[in-house]
Amino acid sequence: SKKNYILAIESSCDDTSAAVLCNTKVLSNVVATQEIHKQYGGVVPELASRAHQQNIVPVVHQALAKANIDKKQLSAIAFTRGPGLMGSLLVGTSFAKSLALGLNIPLIEVNHMEAHILAHFIEEEDMGTPEFPFLAMTISGGHTQIVRVNDYFNMEVLGETLDDAVGEAFDKSAKLMGLPYPGGPLVDKYAQEGNPKAFPFPKPKVDGLNFSFSGLKTSILYFVQRETRKNPDFVSENIKDICASVQHTILEILMDKLKLAINQTGIKQIAIGGGVAANSGIRSRLKEAEQTMGWTTYIPKFSYCTDNAGMIGIVGYLKFLEGKFADQKVAAKARYTI
Ligand code: KG4
Ligand code: ZN
Repeated sequence: SKKNYILAIESSCDDTSAAVLCNTKVLSNVVATQEIHKQYGGVVPELASRAHQQNIVPVVHQALAKANIDKKQLSAIAFTRGPGLMGSLLVGTSFAKSLALGLNIPLIEVNHMEAHILAHFIEEEDMGTPEFPFLAMTISGGHTQIVRVNDYFNMEVLGETLDDAVGEAFDKSAKLMGLPYPGGPLVDKYAQEGNPKAFPFPKPKVDGLNFSFSGLKTSILYFVQRETRKNPDFVSENIKDICASVQHTILEILMDKLKLAINQTGIKQIAIGGGVAANSGIRSRLKEAEQTMGWTTYIPKFSYCTDNAGMIGIVGYLKFLEGKFADQKVAAKARYTI
């Protein structure tokens, strides 16, 4: 079939990314991670916009060079319209519009949350593709959602977080234990050598398929304060058990909601995405559920789980095939639901 080259741009949060796809294959997927936020313990929006502005042109050049594609060969430009930080989205949106105008090729707007889900359709060895309908759970530092996916562009959000995202729950808990940002991977590392039942934390009571993680953070805060008053070295002496217990509670919350979603929909195909999908605990829980409950689970390559332009590119390609192009008047949308 015809080779269509799509350039994709992602700038919704703190990573500037550009990718080149040839149909469903990713030829390059360059991500410039903004290290500046580490010292602040979280993403600082003003600094993120500025870093995107500095990174965007070099990142696009690198993506084209790595794919060995000249910009004149491009068929369309896809970009993240939202949801995300407005100042960050504006950089990618304006850049994509200008380049599409300059090259006189179609412009394609992409919803970041749809992209996390449709990343499963990137053609890649060792990566299976779910069949419709399936359930998608997107878990990252910015999002926590369970979505019923009927078709590429027919999705229904069944539940989402009412407060913090699951990655934030990991990161904020880690911060309370004095671990550096982002703490999720460190909690995972320590948890592997700790006792998950050492310190029980309450699970929130949230109806239906919505999530809440802010209460967990508060109970960890009180727990750490109380124990530290008795023993100033409590956290460092028990870091593995605390991490294992915190992670266990978070995984219980996620698995409970997945089970409920499966009961409600009768769909047993689960596709996971977002940075927290890297967690070794969630991965083994899902493998276990395949054995014990007959689920089929899909986790993309890690580089397609975290924020990246490859996932924007696959949506771009799917929309390109259907002629779903954006107008040059299109504006970034900080709140943009599926
Ligand atoms: O998708 P991502 O790179 O960026 C967002 O869109 O947020 O996700 C980053 C989040 C952070 O909260 C980070 O702590 C978490 O994913 N994370 C993990 C692990 N690796 C990354 N959380 C738990 N266990 C991990 N192994
Ligand atoms: Zn994301």
